[in-house]
Amino acid sequence: MKSLRFGLTFLWASAISLRAAAPLPSLVDYAAQHTDGRVAFAFNTSAYQGDLSSLPIGVFDSGIGGLTVLEAIYQLDAFNNETHAPGPDGKPDFEHEHFIYFGDQANMPYGNYPSSGKTEYLRELIIKDVTFMLGQRAWPARSDAAEFTKPPVKAIVIACNTATAYGLADVRAAIERWHVPVFVVGVVEAGARGVAPVAAGIAPQSVAVFATVGTCASEAYPRAIEAHLRETGQLGRPVIQEGSPKLAGAIEGDPTCLLPGLTPRESVNKIVHDEIATLVEAHRQSGSAAPIGSIVLGCTHYPLVQDEIARAFADLRQSDARYRPLIAEKMEFVNPAELTAKELYQRLTETKRFLRPGATPAVAHDLFYVSVANPKSPTAKLDAAGALETTYKYGRAPGGFEVEDTKGVPMQLAELPPSSANLIREKLPAVARHLQP
Ligand code: DGL
Repeated sequence: MKSLRFGLTFLWASAISLRAAAPLPSLVDYAAQHTDGRVAFAFNTSAYQGDLSSLPIGVFDSGIGGLTVLEAIYQLDAFNNETHAPGPDGKPDFEHEHFIYFGDQANMPYGNYPSSGKTEYLRELIIKDVTFMLGQRAWPARSDAAEFTKPPVKAIVIACNTATAYGLADVRAAIERWHVPVFVVGVVEAGARGVAPVAAGIAPQSVAVFATVGTCASEAYPRAIEAHLRETGQLGRPVIQEGSPKLAGAIEGDPTCLLPGLTPRESVNKIVHDEIATLVEAHRQSGSAAPIGSIVLGCTHYPLVQDEIARAFADLRQSDARYRPLIAEKMEFVNPAELTAKELYQRLTETKRFLRPGATPAVAHDLFYVSVANPKSPTAKLDAAGALETTYKYGRAPGGFEVEDTKGVPMQLAELPPSSANLIREKLPAVARHLQP
């Protein structure tokens, strides 16, 4: 993918309010008109009265990438659980909380909708994810009828950079319009806060953002990084970007994103290597002398292949003398997940939303869902594997909420493609434990 480059960026507006939440087409109104939540893309508003603290927390992504954020949430110990003051206490910070995860796998990759001219449809998909999180409607595995057994959520983490870049402002506006007292945390601002300031007396190194094509095109990261550095009175740093159209899908084992003749693992390795080579070559051609010192993993799938990314930079540095001065010997990896987890903790503290001592949680254990194509849909075109056909997927237009071409069903580790199930087992141990208790 041709590198999307921005050089040193300047900021006028505050970071993620980049999209002025222009009113979304009718989906927000549609949900507001179906307050009993008996139909798809709506939710029961009466669930949002009174004390919400016993409800679980919702986390969503376009696929399994958001599980890297959930892993960071499970692992976080940055606060005292009694006083909520910063500082570890040897106990997981969310030890009494429960989570509902949703991966909109049937509609991914999200990162390719903007370049297909489908940004409005992507914005609608993100609001649909939110109605799923807020609602009680889900499809049991192998059933032809939705049930109303999924608990609503008390907070939402958008564990997807693309969805944060294109949908955070919409989601906040929709939630306000629906009068739902749920707060929303996104990943991009957290990722930007992870970029270290320039040390005094040191020439600034470049920051590389590796993300989806859509996230790069939104410029959310260059803006947010610049805003963060300015707010803290720091010097700007040159920001360069690389957007991959295939990497997230290849990590998921999506056959349409794998390279011909290669296994999922080989495909991932080659895509990573080629994208990083493109990024570094574009940096060289720009004439910049600022070596790449930090890389922001600007897609929640990418921490799953951080080792491969590090190897690609190291190989280029070693194999080509032209690149050596352009790649810092020690590179800082910025994964927005941990900072997102900290922000979630702080917001729960501020809103007094932690499960109250002695209270019974609304669910006994964490629940995981994915979307799959709905074979009963009158409009959906499915491929031989039963997934939405690519041309159908990227050809849809907003509206038509009576048509449910995908449905949210329980996620089973054993039913994910083996390559992605193995990544979860290897890299996300806490998630794997919760997924198969
Ligand atoms: N995990 C998503 C992100 O962080 C993107 C994957 C996709 O393109 O669907 O941007």
